[in-house]
Amino acid sequence: PNPITAAPAMAVPSKLLKPVSLTKVASRYLIHQDSLPKLPVPELRQTCQRYLAVLEPLVSDEELEHTRTLVADFMVPGGVGERLQKGLERRARKMDNWLSDWWLQSAYLEFRMPVVVYSSPGVVLPRAEFQDRQGQMRYAAKLIAGVLDFKTKIDNGTLPVEYMVGKPLCMNQYYQILSSCRIPGPKRDMVVNHSLGKAPPTHVTVVHNYQFFVLDVYNSDGTPLTVDQIYMQLEKIWNSSLQTNKEPIGILTSQHRNTWGKAYANLIKDKTNKESVRAIQKSIFIVCLDAPMPRASDEMYRSRVAVQMLHGGGSRWNSGNRWFDKTLQFIIGEDGSCGLIYEHAPAEGPPIMSLVDHVVEYTKKSEMVRSPMIPLPMPQKLRFNITPETKKDIEKAKQNMNILVQDLEMKVIVFSHFGKNVPKSYKMSPDAFIQIALQLAYFRMYHVCCSTYESASLRMFRLGRTDTIRSTSMDSLRFAQAMDDPTKTKVALLQKAVNAHRVYTDMAIRGQAIDRHLLGLKLQAIEDLTSMPEIFMDTSYAVALHYSLSTSQVSAKTDCVMCYGPVVPDGYGVCYNSMQEHINFSVSAFNSCAETNAAKLARGLEEALLDMRALLEQTPKAKL
Ligand code: COA
Repeated sequence: PNPITAAPAMAVPSKLLKPVSLTKVASRYLIHQDSLPKLPVPELRQTCQRYLAVLEPLVSDEELEHTRTLVADFMVPGGVGERLQKGLERRARKMDNWLSDWWLQSAYLEFRMPVVVYSSPGVVLPRAEFQDRQGQMRYAAKLIAGVLDFKTKIDNGTLPVEYMVGKPLCMNQYYQILSSCRIPGPKRDMVVNHSLGKAPPTHVTVVHNYQFFVLDVYNSDGTPLTVDQIYMQLEKIWNSSLQTNKEPIGILTSQHRNTWGKAYANLIKDKTNKESVRAIQKSIFIVCLDAPMPRASDEMYRSRVAVQMLHGGGSRWNSGNRWFDKTLQFIIGEDGSCGLIYEHAPAEGPPIMSLVDHVVEYTKKSEMVRSPMIPLPMPQKLRFNITPETKKDIEKAKQNMNILVQDLEMKVIVFSHFGKNVPKSYKMSPDAFIQIALQLAYFRMYHVCCSTYESASLRMFRLGRTDTIRSTSMDSLRFAQAMDDPTKTKVALLQKAVNAHRVYTDMAIRGQAIDRHLLGLKLQAIEDLTSMPEIFMDTSYAVALHYSLSTSQVSAKTDCVMCYGPVVPDGYGVCYNSMQEHINFSVSAFNSCAETNAAKLARGLEEALLDMRALLEQTPKAKL
C-alpha cells in the first residue's frame, strides 16, 4: 500500500452513518478531527542547530561562520528568537494549527506567479483504450460517474481514515477538493468552497472548443445520473460546441495573478459574465474534452501528455480549454490521453491520488445497467460578452502562455529495472534510496550539490499540510563525491546517506523539521512589526531556500505520475510514483536556462539508480 494507507472505517456509533448520498454526517468527521494531535512548535535551539547542519554542504566555510554568529545572536537568552518563539507558542495554543493558514496564504494565495506550471500539478493517467470521440465521451461519462461515486463517500462520511506509519491522518483536504475554486484578487487570491454552503452544487462544468457548459449530474431525488445519461448529455454538449473559432476565455486564468485579478474585475462587471464565472466556480469539478494534440512517438507519449495536463500545449491547442483557477479539472483527449490538473491551494497530491485510484477502478468496471432514457434538458451553455478590453486581455494571456509553453521542458520516464522491491530487499527505505540517487545524478552533472526540497506530509496533525525534507546532507554529499572515486569504499557511505534521509523524513512527518518553523518565526516577526531578524536577511538563508531540486513522492495504486514545473529559474521539478517493480518519474526544467536539461537529469537518475543497485549487488550480504 501507499505510505498513506487506507484503514477500515473508524468504529463510530452506527446512528452516525447515514446511507443517503447527499446528506453530510459532519459529526463522524469531526470526532476524528478532534482526536488528532495539534502541530507542535519545535524547540528553538533544535531548529537553529539543525539549520546550521543543513547549511554545511550548501555554503562556503566563511558564509557558514557568518551565519553561525547570526544564529547565536538570534538564540541569545531573552533575545529576539525567544520572543518570537513565545509568540508562535501562543499562536499554537489559540489555533487548531499554527501553520496552516499562514502556509495557505504565503505559499499559495499571496504567490503571484501564474498557477500554470509554477504551482498547479498535473497527473498523467495510463492511456485509456479509445481512439475516437465516442470513446472519449464514453470515458468522460464513466469518469464523471466515478468521481460522483467517490463524492458519495465524502458526503456521507464513509471515506476510510488514512494512516501513515501507524498514525491516523487528517482528512480535511478531502473536503476541500470538490466544489471549490480559487478567485483572483489584485494583491492576493482566495479560495471558495461551495460544498459547505446551504445549497451544495449539483453540476459539473464541461468545456469543449473553449465553450463552457453546466451539466447537472443529479436527479431531483438526489441520485446521480447514470453513465448512459451522462454520455447522452455529453453528446448534446459536443454537438452544440462544434465551432472552433470561439474566444478562449479560460486562458485568462493562466495569467500572472495580479494581471488576472485586474482582468477578472473587468470581466465580471458584466452580469452575464459574472453568472457564467460563478457557475464554473461553483461546479463540483470541470471536465475538459480536449481537441487532438500533435502526435508523439511511443517514447515521447507520456511527456506529451504531461504538458497537455500541465498547460494544454499553448493557445493553438488546449490551453484555452481550461479554467485554471478550478481546484479539479479532468482532461480527456480523443486519442486515449487522460489525466488532470489541480489548483494546489486547497490540497496536496495524496488525496487527489486516492480519488484518481478510485476513479480509475471505477472506469474499469464493465458497463453499468442501462437505464431507460428519460429525456433530460439540454445542458446550459455559459455565455460571455467580450468587450474590446477583455479581448486585449485574452490576446496578452495567449502570448504569455505561448512563451511559458516554449520554455517548459518536461520529460516523463518509466524506470523499469526495479521499484520499491530492490531497496526493500536491502532493508533500505525506497524513498530515501531514490532521493540519494537524485543527489548522485545532480552531483554528477554539476560537481556540487544543491538545496533540495522533498515534501513531507504533516497530516498526522489536525489541518496539517507539508514540511520540507532536506535531502542534501553531508552524508549524501560524501556518498556522491565517493561514488566515482575508485579509491573510496562506497557502500557504507551509501547506507549512511540513505539512513540520514530516512531520519530526516521521520523528523519531518513528526513536525520537527526546520523549514516551516523558520517561516513561522519570520512571519511572527512581521506580525509583531519588529525589524526582520538578520538570519532571514542572510545569504545563507537565500541559498537554503533556492531549491534547485524541488521533489515529491506522490504514490498511487494506479500506474500514473504527477508532474510540475521547477520552483526556481535554474532548477528542476522532479516527481515520482514508485511502484513495486518500476518507478514513474517526471522531470521538468526551463529551456531558457542554459545550465539545466531535464532529459539529461532523467538519464542521470536512471544511471544513478542502476549504479547504486550494482554497488549493493557487488557487496557480499554479510558486509551490508
Ligand atoms: N527496509 C525495508 N522496507 C522499508 C524500509 C526499510 N528500511 N523503509 C521503508 N520501507 C518500506 C515501508 O514500510 C513501505 O512499505 P509499503 O510499500 O508496504 O508501504 C515502503 O518501503 C515505502 O517506504 P519509504 O520509501 O520509506 O517511503 P514512505 O512511503 O514512508 O514515504 C514520504 C515517505 C516522505 C513520501 C511520506 O512520508 C510522505 O510524507 N508522503 C506525502 C508527500 C506529499 O504530501 N507529497 C505531495 C506534495 S504535492
